[in-house]
Amino acid sequence: MASLFDPLQLGALDLPNRIAMAPLTRARANREAVPNELIAAYYAQRSAAGLIISEATGISREGLGWPNAPGLWNEDQVEGWKTVTNAVHHAGGRIVAQLWHMGRLVHPDLGGGQPVSSSATKAPDFAHTYEGKKPYETARALTYDDIQRIVGDYATAARNAIAAGFDGIQIHGANGYLVDQFLRNGANFRTDQYGCSIENRLRFMTEVLQAVGAEIGIDRVGIRFSPNILVQGVEDSDPIKLFKAVAEKLEDLQVPWVELREAHQPTSAGSIPTEPVSPFMRPLYSGKILLNSDYDGPSASARMAEGIADGISFGRPFISNPDLVHRLAIGAPLTEGDTSTFYSGGADGYVDYPTLEARAA
Ligand SMILES: Cc1cc2nc3c(=O)[nH]c(=O)nc-3n(C[C@H](O)[C@H](O)[C@H](O)COP(=O)(O)O)c2cc1C
Repeated sequence: MASLFDPLQLGALDLPNRIAMAPLTRARANREAVPNELIAAYYAQRSAAGLIISEATGISREGLGWPNAPGLWNEDQVEGWKTVTNAVHHAGGRIVAQLWHMGRLVHPDLGGGQPVSSSATKAPDFAHTYEGKKPYETARALTYDDIQRIVGDYATAARNAIAAGFDGIQIHGANGYLVDQFLRNGANFRTDQYGCSIENRLRFMTEVLQAVGAEIGIDRVGIRFSPNILVQGVEDSDPIKLFKAVAEKLEDLQVPWVELREAHQPTSAGSIPTEPVSPFMRPLYSGKILLNSDYDGPSASARMAEGIADGISFGRPFISNPDLVHRLAIGAPLTEGDTSTFYSGGADGYVDYPTLEARAA
């Protein structure tokens, strides 16, 4: 049975260990969605991770609705990301870009116009804007031509990611964003070839994966889902059936890895998880499965021992423990993060969490 500290191959990527840094939006880019030296320093500090999955990164102005989140649709953003990928590689790490279209969760104040989605729906709760939280607006249902355009935007962003020095990409298929708004029937009410049956609801994801695979090679592509929790108004009436079909599709497309945010306890947003889908996906999918959510060292090792997970991704623990891999290796206690600085901008609570070594000095 593999341990967290064994190497792992994810398609074209060779990881020295099975501890991934989960994607974490930290809102430190500028308003033009361009990353900077501070972001480079943050990721470089965490480059002992087997793999860093970047914070969610917009594929277009239309698709990006989080203040100060980064993008990958123009030259300035590619140049900004080069600073980050160089710093990570220089420190011995590997980093993939999480590609993001937020769909109905983009507020028009962010400059992308009326939000779009699989169907004309409105998300619950509030959108993030530069003026604080505002109610979501009703999305426009995407036309066939819109869908083809957005699939093209994913392919362009994937090409830009490679130009920016990323080692690959992860499609953000989780957390109630656009791919999820097509997949799960709590948000997709279409009656055309993109809705209704499971086969149809998988079509958008499939076209995106085919397009990015054709652009950069499928061996550099992964995808993330949040299959067993209600997130931002999106869930499914039969997650096991849906994600068995997803597993078969990923197998057909030869997508080398998938990351599941598969909760086993209520989330901080109060969502109660349903039955995990990974035991049902495992026999249908020969690629690698990373599991995420609420792990520490002992629970991650215990999960690995069950034989479903090939690796574990850690989100919040990586925020406050830049030397997380070392701490897990020696069983050292983990520092709690300060939630007030998760999205606050600036260096505080971002690049100033000390390593054990720095604390001892
Ligand atoms: C501050 C913060 C930002 C996050 N940003 C993203 C993101 O950009 N993309 C994503 O897929 N998930 C995002 N998540 C979810 C995490 O990747 C992860 O699934 C979640 O924190 C649970 O894992 P953990 O218990 O190891 O933290 C975010 C979570 C937090 C706390």
